Amino acid sequence: MAMDIRSLVLDSNKDIYSAIEEIIKKPSQDEPFYICDVSNLIWKVHNWRKLMPRVEIFFATKCNNSSIVVETFAALGLGFDCASKEEIQKILSLGVPPERIVFSNPTKLFSHLTYAAEVGVNVMTFDNEAELYKIQKYHSKAQLLLRLRCDDESARYQLGEKFGACPVTEASGLLKVAKSIGLNVIGIHFHVGCGCVNYMAYYIAIATAKKVFDTGASLGYTFKLLDIGGGYPGEGFRPLDKIAEFINKALEEHFPDNSVKIIAEPGKYCCNTAFKLVSRIHSKKVVTDHYEQKVRMYYMDVGAYNALFNILVNEYYMYRPVTIENSAQLFPSIVWGPTSDTRDRLSEKVDYLPELNIGDWLIFEEAGGYTVSITCEYNGFASPLIYTVINKEDCLLLTEKLQSPFPQDKFTSSLEAFFTGHKNPYSFRQKYF
Ligand SMILES: Cc1ncc(COP(=O)(O)O)c(C=O)c1O
Repeated sequence: MAMDIRSLVLDSNKDIYSAIEEIIKKPSQDEPFYICDVSNLIWKVHNWRKLMPRVEIFFATKCNNSSIVVETFAALGLGFDCASKEEIQKILSLGVPPERIVFSNPTKLFSHLTYAAEVGVNVMTFDNEAELYKIQKYHSKAQLLLRLRCDDESARYQLGEKFGACPVTEASGLLKVAKSIGLNVIGIHFHVGCGCVNYMAYYIAIATAKKVFDTGASLGYTFKLLDIGGGYPGEGFRPLDKIAEFINKALEEHFPDNSVKIIAEPGKYCCNTAFKLVSRIHSKKVVTDHYEQKVRMYYMDVGAYNALFNILVNEYYMYRPVTIENSAQLFPSIVWGPTSDTRDRLSEKVDYLPELNIGDWLIFEEAGGYTVSITCEYNGFASPLIYTVINKEDCLLLTEKLQSPFPQDKFTSSLEAFFTGHKNPYSFRQKYF
C-alpha cells in the first residue's frame, strides 16, 4: 500500500473526504478500508480533559485495539483498561508503565492473573468471593477495585447481568472476606452500561460508590481510587457536556477530597467518530417481495463478521453512498454483507436508498467503536486495512509528544510516517494539554 495515503498529513484546505476520494479513485483500490482521523482522537482527549479535568482516561482497549489508536493514546499519556493478558501485553509493548493499566475484568483467567503479577499490573477489579481467593493465590500484591452493579435501564448494553456486586446486599460481605484474607482493596469501580443516555446514572452510581467507600472505611480500609467506568456517548450528535456536568457535580458533592483519584474507562467516546469505514458494492440484483414491491439487493464487501459486528445485535450504522446526490429518488433496498450468513445484512428492515450500482462506494460515518476489535475472517473476508490522516498541526504536536516519555522506535507502524521532517517543537501543546 502506498505510504503517502496510508498516513496522509492534511493541509488546512483538505479534509478527510478528500483523502477518501484520493484513495477510491486509484484504479487499483478494490478493497474496503477504514480511514482514521488521528486529529479527531486527539480532539476527543482534549475535550474530555477540558470538561472533566479531575477524571483521568484509561481507554478501554477492547473498543478499538488498532495500533494507530493505542499508540496515539499512549503518546497522549492516557492509561488503559485491559481485559486480558493479550491486551496488557500490547499496551506494555508501547512503553506504557504497568501503573497506567487497570486489569478491568472481574473474572480473570489463571494464566492472565499470573502474567499480571509478573509484569506488575496490580490494579484490577473483582465482584465475587471465588475471585478473591484466586487473586490471593496468584497475585497477592494486587490492588483491588470492587466492581459494583450500577447499570442503567437506558443503556444499550447492560453489563450488570454478567458483572458487578450489589452495593446493598453483597459489597460489605465481599470487603469483609477480602480483609480477612489480607487483600488490599483500594477502591470502587462501576460501569453504567454501554450507550447510557441517562445522565443521572453516573450521579447515582457515584453517590452509591461513596456509600461503599464508607463501608470500606468502617472495615479499616482507606480507599483512594474511584473508577467510573465506560458508557460515554460515542456518537457525534451526543456531546459529553451534560454527562460531564452531572459527574463533576457528583464528585464535588461526594468526593470533594482530591486525595481520591478518579479514573474512567471510556471506549466508544474516545474512538468512534475518528473512524470511517468505506466499502464497495460488488453485486446487485432486483427481486419482487411478497407485496409485489421491487426491492434492490446490494452486496458489499464488509458486514457483520469483518467489520460491523453490531448489526448482529440490531445496532445500525449511519451510512451513505459516496457519489450520489442527497436529493436522489429513494427505492426499497437491502444491503447485504459478503458472507453466506443471512443475518449478515445492514438492517433488519428494508432501507430506502438511491439507486446504487456495482462499483459504488458507501461511507459508514462513525465506525471506530467495537468494529476493528471484533472481527473474524468468516468465509475468508478479512478485516479492512486502516488508512490514517492527521492535520499538520496535530502531526507536529504528536511528534513532540512522542519524543518523551515514549521512545520513538517503539512506534513502528502507522505513526512512523508522520515524523519525517518535523523536528520543531510546536506551540499546540498549550492548546491541548
Ligand atoms: C469494564 C469495561 N470498561 C469500559 C468499557 C467501555 O465501554 P464504552 O465503550 O461504552 O465506553 C467496557 C465495555 O464493554 C467494559 O466492559
